[in-house]
Formats: sequence, C-alpha cells, structure tokens
Amino acid sequence: MNSPKVVVEGLCKVFGTNPKQALNMLAGGATKEDVFAQTGQIVGVHNVSFEVKEGEIFVLMGLSGSGKSTLIRLINRLVEPSAGKVLIDGRDVAAVPRAELTALRRKDMSMVFQSFALMPQRTVLSNAAFGLEVAGVSRKEREQRAMTVLEQVGLAPFAEKLPAQLSGGMQQRVGLARALAVNPSLMIMDEAFSALDPLKRKEMQNVLLDLQREQQRTILFVSHDLEEAMRIGTRIAIMEGGKVVQVGTPQQIITNPADDYVRAFFEGIDTSRYLTAGDLMQTDAVPLMQHSQPIDASSVAATLNGSADYAFVLDGERKFRGFVCRDAMGSASPQLNHIECIRRTTPLDDVVERVVASRAPLPVVEADGSYCGSVNKTNVLNVLTRHRGSHV
Ligand SMILES: Nc1ncnc2c1ncn2[C@@H]1O[C@H](COP(=O)(O)OP(=O)(O)OP(=O)(O)O)[C@@H](O)[C@H]1O
Ligand SMILES: [Mg+2]
Repeated sequence: MNSPKVVVEGLCKVFGTNPKQALNMLAGGATKEDVFAQTGQIVGVHNVSFEVKEGEIFVLMGLSGSGKSTLIRLINRLVEPSAGKVLIDGRDVAAVPRAELTALRRKDMSMVFQSFALMPQRTVLSNAAFGLEVAGVSRKEREQRAMTVLEQVGLAPFAEKLPAQLSGGMQQRVGLARALAVNPSLMIMDEAFSALDPLKRKEMQNVLLDLQREQQRTILFVSHDLEEAMRIGTRIAIMEGGKVVQVGTPQQIITNPADDYVRAFFEGIDTSRYLTAGDLMQTDAVPLMQHSQPIDASSVAATLNGSADYAFVLDGERKFRGFVCRDAMGSASPQLNHIECIRRTTPLDDVVERVVASRAPLPVVEADGSYCGSVNKTNVLNVLTRHRGSHV
C-alpha cells in the first residue's frame, strides 16, 4: 500500500482581518457570499480534506475563483492557513521552520506556472538549470542534469538558444524542464498549460504523460479544463466556492457526478470517450457456472434458470473458460464455446466494435484474466445515449 504523499485536513483560508469570526460564521452554516456581505472577508478555501497518493496526478478543477490556486499555495505554504493542516510525507508543513521551508519548496515541491517566467538573457540550458543553480549545485552537474531533462522534453537541440527564439509551447517545455531538473518529489502545476493553444496543450499533456510513465512522480495539477483533467488526472477534485465538492477518478466523476455544478463541466464534451469496458459492464447479467461442475444439459438448464440465453463458464480461479447457450440444452453434451474476452480497461470505442459484432454478451476480465463482468449491446447503447447526447 502506498502511503499518501500529501494529506490535507480541514484546511481553511479566509482573506481578511478577522478569520476566526468568518470561520465561526461558516461553521454556523453561512456561505462564502454571506461572509463577504456581512464582514467584507473573502473565503478562499473552506474545510477542504483529501489525500494525494504517491505517484498519482491529482487534478484540482473548478471555475475561476473557486480556490484552486489558494489551495495549492496553502499546500506549499506560500499562504498561511486560517485553520486545518497539511502533511507532506507525514510531516506537518506548519511545523517546518521558515528557513527549512525554502529548501523544502525548492527541493521537494517544484512549481510550474501558467506564465513561463523564463529569463530572457539566459540560454534554454541555463534556464532549465536555474533551480539547481539556486540550490547550489555545481555548474557541471547542473548542466548535465538540465541537459537530461531537456532531452526528456524534446528540447536538447535548442539548449543553446535564447527563450525568445522558441515558440510559446517550447518555452513552456523549458519551464517544465526547469521544474523537473531539481527532481522534486512533488510537482505543483498551476494552469501550467492553459496559455497554450489546444494543439500545443495536448502535446504538453503527452510530454507529461510520457514522463509519468517513466518516473512516477506525485503531481498536483490545477486546471479549469475538464478535458485536460480527464486526460491526465489519476483522480480529480472538483472545487466550488472554496470547497471540494467531489473527488474521484475521471470515470467515477463522469458516471456519477455529485451535482449540477459538476455536471455543467461536461456540457459539450463527449465524456463517453473516457469510459472503459469496466465502466459499463454489469456484474450479474450473465449467470456463471464453475468448470468443475459437469457441463451437461441439466446443469446448463439449472444455471440458465429459465430466462437467460447464455451462461459463462469459469474455472476454480475465476478465469473465463467459455460460454454455453440455451440451444445447448437439447444436446447430451453441451458445447463449451470460445469467445474472446475484453479487458476491463479497454476504451469504449473498441468495446462498441466488439459488442456490435457479437451475438452473445462479452466477458470482461482483469489484466490477470479473472472474470469481472459482462457487456452487451444494451449497455453500450445506454452509455452512448447518456453521454453523447446530441453528439451521436
Ligand atoms: N491574496 C488574496 N487576498 C484576497 N482575496 C484573495 C487572495 N487570493 C485569492 N483571493 C480570493 O480567494 C478566492 C479564490 O481565489 P483563487 O485564486 O484561489 O481561485 P482560483 O480557483 O485559482 O481561480 P482562477 O481559476 O481564476 O485562477 C477568490 O474569491 C479570490 O478573490
Ligand atoms: Mg488560480
């Protein structure tokens, strides 16, 4: 079991002269608007709790002003909390002395912002090495390490160029390289790709996902774009008015949005693209038989129990072995039919193709081959009409 990298507990931030008063009002059920109307104070973050697991990309999403930037600044303590706490690697950030905090931020928590903040008179290499320079790493070593990350983000040939000679997307990669060069255990990215055009943005998302496959970092990523969140997020937290209203995997959020605020983010987006076989399968639609059980007409009839047309046959380890159909009941030794399984993680489009081509429902299995459910044409149709709406 992975221990959480970041734990946030009951975190609150009130911008104003009397946070206690505001917190009391909130505890009494007042809203962010009430607090502002009555005291002039602004609630940035209100009673937020969640955990970020080691190695995941945790995306904070929400409308402008919902508190995303404040929340990440509370985590790296650029902003002091009004209440609650933040643990990083089990350590209470509030207890870290000021002097150590700077080192912690520099080494363990790299930030990437929307604006590149590159130094125009320095080369790409020197910009990428800047974090290491501040940390006092020798020139030779920092340039070596910076070169390695420039290679990772595809910028090695541009190492000696100046930022102005690069496109916006490439400049953003330099920003990413600079953050990566210090090899932080936690990367914090606030709208890091938001200024890029859609194509460049997708390209940067791919760079990040490729890097993530090689070296799993913990990344806290702020975005106001649901499609970006869906593409890169292991889990997503949705914020509204300083609160976290839902935390879940992209699939959990699509299949079960907490409220209309969350649902509104899906408008105009074909959310079915993010679904997999596991999201639409049913676990009890097809009756199951054990392979050890004799497969004869009477056992098939008993399993089908009058209504089902198919039964799946599993072995003692719940691995899928084949299926029998109703027609087989007439035969003395019913035939075990072969059918190819679908992995739980197979994307919807591939599932659709397979299901449409098959008369029988298809078995869905885990990576190790163990059975987890079935999909049929109705499941596919339901999910398509629900998620694609007018896109169909
Ligand atoms: N230093 C500050 N002083 C006063 N109010 C602030 C301060 N920083 C943020 N706020 C307020 O806190 C709330 C949350 O702001 P925050 O910047 O965290 O939102 P955000 O979700 O990052 O928005 P955006 O998507 O526009 O970046 C807003 O109402 C904002 O006006
Ligand atoms: Mg912000």
